[in-house]
Amino acid sequence: MKYQDSKDQLDTPKKILKVNHAGECGAINIYRSQILFSKIFFKDLVPLLESFVEDEKNHRDIFWEEIKSRNGVRCKSYWLCGLGGFAMGLISSLLGRRGIMACTWAVESVVINHLKEQLIYLASKNDRAAYLAVESILEDEENHRDTGFNEGGKSNILYQPFRLGVSLFTESVIRFGMR
Ligand SMILES: [Fe+2]
Ligand SMILES: [Fe+2]
Repeated sequence: MKYQDSKDQLDTPKKILKVNHAGECGAINIYRSQILFSKIFFKDLVPLLESFVEDEKNHRDIFWEEIKSRNGVRCKSYWLCGLGGFAMGLISSLLGRRGIMACTWAVESVVINHLKEQLIYLASKNDRAAYLAVESILEDEENHRDTGFNEGGKSNILYQPFRLGVSLFTESVIRFGMR
């Protein structure tokens, strides 16, 4: 999705920050619910998922600091994103280890595409602070996506419908937030 100037009173950089902030709440809750499940069924995954949650909390704080410095407020759907994330994490866990990794791969792939488009837009607007905030999380998200890939999240064709569903859902949540 190409990012463009906003047509209402909230400018696009502010929208990007608020959507990313809410998205991080979603991500935190995806990994939290997967951790709850993994503590019983896939114990070896717990340390990895816990490290992901720490990254996502850090990302959330980065966006929140930048929102505050612009006198912004949190996204109206902040808690809804958290709830949606939690549900998606649970569904992926029910599909097993591969489901968890497929979810990670799909969510993070969509997120990374958006982050890259956001960087192009923010660079064109010379919004250095927002640019740096987005840029600072990119490497972590690439690491999450690649871990999902390396752990088999992309390899099994049976999970293709699930990956597609997760991608579409993530894409629509981001677009809805940016509207
Ligand atoms: Fe994140
Ligand atoms: Fe992530």
